[in-house]
Amino acid sequence: MIISTAKLPPLPSKPVKVLFVCLGNICRSPAAEAIMKYAVEERGESADWVIDSAGTIGYHTGERSDRRMITHARRRGYDLTHRARKVTEADFDDFDLIIGMDGNNVADLRQLAPTPEHELKVMAMADFFSTPKRVDYVPDPYYEGAEGFELVLDLLDDAINNLIDTVKAAQ
Ligand code: 4NP
Repeated sequence: MIISTAKLPPLPSKPVKVLFVCLGNICRSPAAEAIMKYAVEERGESADWVIDSAGTIGYHTGERSDRRMITHARRRGYDLTHRARKVTEADFDDFDLIIGMDGNNVADLRQLAPTPEHELKVMAMADFFSTPKRVDYVPDPYYEGAEGFELVLDLLDDAINNLIDTVKAAQ
């Protein structure tokens, strides 16, 4: 087990509410949501978590995830059923951890946070990478080929298991 040194905000004992955020909410963050739901189900801990995802833009609101991400995720056993939505100010009250996929997402979330206390909930997915990677954020795969989608899934598979272990170690 690898525990991240990332500084977590104050967390409730259970359930811990986690919101993953990317730009469009059709590729990276719905994949993170599906992977984490699968991981906590496998550990028999589904009741201990609330897991959702959103985008910083509302352009794809109501849409299913990108067909390419659905296909790549399904090959690993993850079902993407999320419908895209835009992140709201209310999410800062409703969730304990709000995790952006890249530096732009994190900057946008910090801007949207209604108070400094709410801003403490904002973290980067890369805070939970267990070892140094080719990249220090989760890159947008939208204009990439298959390799871009596989890289996102590799990064998320690693980071999400580390996120779960880190939260549990802090509780
Ligand atoms: P995501 O990918 O942020 O991982 O969902 C994108 C989806 C849509 C767009 C950009 C990135 N877009 O420009 O519509």
